[in-house]
Amino acid sequence: EAPLNPAIAPLDWLLGSWESDEPGEGSFPTIAPFRYTETLHFSQVGQPVINFMFNAFHAESKKPLHRECGFIRIQPGTNRVAFIIAQNSGLVEIEEGQLAGQLLSLQSQALARASFSKEPHVQQITRLFQLRADGKLEQTVSMATGDQPLTQHLHIIYRRSS
Ligand code: HEM
Repeated sequence: EAPLNPAIAPLDWLLGSWESDEPGEGSFPTIAPFRYTETLHFSQVGQPVINFMFNAFHAESKKPLHRECGFIRIQPGTNRVAFIIAQNSGLVEIEEGQLAGQLLSLQSQALARASFSKEPHVQQITRLFQLRADGKLEQTVSMATGDQPLTQHLHIIYRRSS
């Protein structure tokens, strides 16, 4: 494996593979609550960038559902972090935020979608990643759509799988 670029050292706690510990909880005012499993892979090739892939599945049917992948950068010399993300739903986004220790809080700065994406269209996304004291990783995602104000959509806890 390539030596870690020092620019991404503050996020080295993400590197590797994670899987949901227990199924995550999905919700939104307009949909039936659901449970899902998810695997996360964070890797690096010596660039000042972390590469990631997230793959989610229906907890009961195991059917593939949501997938997203992208890149993470840190503004050199700061705690400012950017996620560059592509989702299988046709959404692309830039999220930016701050790293405080092992708590990463992000907000969408730019969203774009395929011209024929289904409504409702997402207008805003916020996420939190936190490495907990017990070594587990927690992710919480909220979103606003054309119909609904910013409301939690996802909450999940992962354990390291490699
Ligand atoms: C529904 C966005 C991640 C599973 C939705 C809806 C939107 C959305 C806009 C429709 C809400 C409505 O009808 O009012 C997003 C965004 C995500 C994300 C922006 C990531 C940032 C996930 C993940 C899963 C998931 C990881 C895990 C399996 C679902 C399900 C529904 C749904 C099952 C309801 C059924 C459906 O309409 O397809 N999501 N989602 N989503 N999402 Fe997500």
